[in-house]
Amino acid sequence: TAGGSETAKRHAGERAAEEVEDGFVVGLGTGSTTAHAIRAIGRAADDGLTVQGIPTSFQSRQLALEVGIPLTTLDAVDGVDLAIDGADQVVDDSDAEADGALIKGGGAAHAREKLVDAAADRFVVVADPSKLTGRLERPVPVEVVPDAHTVVADQIRAFGGEPTLREAGQKDGPVVTDNGNLVLDCAFGSIQDPDGLAGSLSQIPGVLEHGLFVGLADVTYVGRENGVEERTY
Ligand code: A5P
Repeated sequence: TAGGSETAKRHAGERAAEEVEDGFVVGLGTGSTTAHAIRAIGRAADDGLTVQGIPTSFQSRQLALEVGIPLTTLDAVDGVDLAIDGADQVVDDSDAEADGALIKGGGAAHAREKLVDAAADRFVVVADPSKLTGRLERPVPVEVVPDAHTVVADQIRAFGGEPTLREAGQKDGPVVTDNGNLVLDCAFGSIQDPDGLAGSLSQIPGVLEHGLFVGLADVTYVGRENGVEERTY
């Protein structure tokens, strides 16, 4: 996703990677901020740290292979010790019930990300300050079974959303996820009740997964130019 300096992202990613302990199974999130964590874990593995990674996307799998992190799958392990993942928006309001709620799926990887992040004992979010917001307001990515996209879009309009089928490019057709599905980006304006909306979206037949992550994050490392701020939930 655009926005945020590379230095800030690197500070957040490297701070998260410091949480990886010897023998850990680690969920490897998707995006440019998490990429810094994956590279740092790769360097630690080079230096002798024993770690296994569970990628959340084709992209994070490729990077993990490139930097030499041994990979495994969710069904081959007893549990996931830690997941590190980025976000498109993070609620940053310690007075709000939704503090730490996320919108994810800018990279269309949110279904696998949610599986792995939710399975982890600890879920660490890495972000630069451009991701912080008082209220979630970006369109919510909704992954849909391909031939259900029109009926799901109708349902979403019925409760006030504006769905747009995500296109790869003028000549490339729609974005197809790693799971072979399509993505509807659904604008709801400023979202007052992320938990309620999450429940409504999950109930629509044909929705595989949506990008609202409510009550899942344990901490966000917010990378700055000269350090890292920590938000715990
Ligand atoms: C992928 O589907 C998203 O959930 C990413 O985690 C999100 O877009 C963060 O990416 P950046 O770190 O590149 O902003």
